[in-house]
Amino acid sequence: MDIHQKNQLNKLLIIWYSNGYRKLPWRTNPSLYKTVISEFMLQQTQVKTVLPYFEKWIKTFPDFHTLAKASDESILKHWEGLGYYSRARNLHKLAKVLSSLPSIPKTPEEWQKLSGVGPYTAAAICSIAFSFPIAVVDGNVIRILSRLFAYDKPLKNNADAVKIFTPLATKFLNTTDPNTHNQAMMELGATTCLKHSPLCTVCPFVTFCKAAGKGIQGSLPRLIRKKTTQLTLNRLWIQKDDCLLLEQIPTNAARLANLYELPSNANTQIPLTNITPTATLKRAISNQSIQENLYQIPLSPSIKTIMHKQPHWQWIPLSQIESIALSGPHRKWINRLLKQGLFTS
Ligand code: ADE
Repeated sequence: MDIHQKNQLNKLLIIWYSNGYRKLPWRTNPSLYKTVISEFMLQQTQVKTVLPYFEKWIKTFPDFHTLAKASDESILKHWEGLGYYSRARNLHKLAKVLSSLPSIPKTPEEWQKLSGVGPYTAAAICSIAFSFPIAVVDGNVIRILSRLFAYDKPLKNNADAVKIFTPLATKFLNTTDPNTHNQAMMELGATTCLKHSPLCTVCPFVTFCKAAGKGIQGSLPRLIRKKTTQLTLNRLWIQKDDCLLLEQIPTNAARLANLYELPSNANTQIPLTNITPTATLKRAISNQSIQENLYQIPLSPSIKTIMHKQPHWQWIPLSQIESIALSGPHRKWINRLLKQGLFTS
């Protein structure tokens, strides 16, 4: 890529973006706060999933100061269903730190020192909010650049791909408008240079794209996929009067800290061999395929004995189910089962 071609491609990208970018809520009347919230929510999560959460979040917590003062419970409740809950805790910490600083940090190095801010998020925040000249490098950018330059060597994993493509993305960055450039790369990856069936006919780069020229765009980038592992979890549905037994995940847990789930049978080993599961829930998280079987168990004296040894198990009145923070899949599951009349008190 010579400087002439780079300038030409940069210009085409900005024209393409200006002609029809999605009017996402963090793009209208943008602010540092909106940029930070959107970038945290968009980590590992699609735009369409984030949209309702973002709108509600901005109404409830309109600025860093309000967020810093909010309770842990209300923050977790507003994040319920978005997944990767450490992001919510990190945002809370970040808001507290920023509120206490004499001035707002403006460089990616400084932002990376804050909780939950990795190289991608620091680059996105600083380029979008402060026009800092740094390229964002994520799956979208790697896909676009690997196709544009027909990079067909295998990439071991995402970290390897980021390392390999950072110098090229940096060279390709439009330093006169890094904000629009980065957002346009995100937009092109999300709407046009799609993983499967890219929409090359409407791509601003089509006549320059080496992969499209060779007809190999669909097979790039060559990311080596990890094998998926199977995981089976047995869950319990135990009820008493108008209460359902739930397990609150401990505060120090790596995943889902403080959220409620249906109790797992992993530590209790209640024999389930002769019982048919009432329901089965299947889902996939990164390279794990998870099957959860739900067993309806009567509240017998032996179950009561087991329960007393489980410090995180709690009886939750049905009237409170809506107001506690449940893991997303379990919220859907419980609501569906309650509607089907599983609760028989
Ligand atoms: N993905 C990550 N950051 C984004 C942004 N600011 N707009 C759209 N998609 C994104």
